[in-house]
Amino acid sequence: MEKRSLISITDLTKEEIVRITELAAYFEAHPYEPLLHGRVIASLFFEPSTRTRLSFESAINRLGARVIGFSDTTNTSVSKGETFHDTIQVISNYCDMIVMRHPVEGAPRYASEISKVPIVNAGDGANQHPSQTLLDLYSIKKTQGTLDGINIMMVGDLKYGRTVHSLLQALSHFDTKFSFVSPPELQMPEEYKSFLREKGLSYTETTEIGDAINRADIVYMTRVQRERFTDPMEYERVKNVYVLRNGMLEGTKENMRILHPLPRVGEISPDVDANPKVYYFQQTENGVYTRMAIISYLLGVKQ
Ligand code: CP
Repeated sequence: MEKRSLISITDLTKEEIVRITELAAYFEAHPYEPLLHGRVIASLFFEPSTRTRLSFESAINRLGARVIGFSDTTNTSVSKGETFHDTIQVISNYCDMIVMRHPVEGAPRYASEISKVPIVNAGDGANQHPSQTLLDLYSIKKTQGTLDGINIMMVGDLKYGRTVHSLLQALSHFDTKFSFVSPPELQMPEEYKSFLREKGLSYTETTEIGDAINRADIVYMTRVQRERFTDPMEYERVKNVYVLRNGMLEGTKENMRILHPLPRVGEISPDVDANPKVYYFQQTENGVYTRMAIISYLLGVKQ
């Protein structure tokens, strides 16, 4: 069978994206299905994670497979100087799939050229986070009833936030209206804006949340990515620039929902948590079902 990796959300067609969201709904209704009994999946996290690693590992267990791997490289031979190339080549002898996060953009793509088994990118630097995008799409579909014609406001660190890059590309299939809110230093990179223009999609770009929040179906908040800044003073200047507070939600649409890939570090006030428009904790649960769908789809056991 063809080795099928997921490195970028652009590796999937629109039809495949829709299919994976349908499979996520299937796994939400059937959360324990041992389709992968006897298989082994490696979970290699070269960068910290809570949700992505643990929801992938939960998904693997619920599918009946076993997990091997590491959540940091301290106790591996990487700390003795073993190269990334050799690490991937060796581990691909031990498993049927590798899920990996790495701080270097392009590392999962390179791994897919070395590995005998499929690679799933669990986040590479400021580049891509395709499994997060698929769970975001599943969350949008569940809350809005459709993926078509959604008005989404993306707020915060649009430069280094890999989740908004993947999500923008995925939503470009669905006639989405984009509103970008960020400080000038953290604007959506030009390559993504030109990608939208080439597809004939419009977007707005502002530095204030303002009244545009009242037109949004989805408000997608993001954390300012401290770990990507080379200048700590620049991080200090922009880290608290947007804080979503309950009062700001008064004129918003009845069915508007607030998403955040999490972790949050102050950009959503705790007083928002009790608002029925909050969806970021249910979003994390959707990650388990979506990752069950991704793994079983790529391994060809559920298509
Ligand atoms: N959303 C996300 O990638 O969270 P973690 O960094 O905790 O995996």
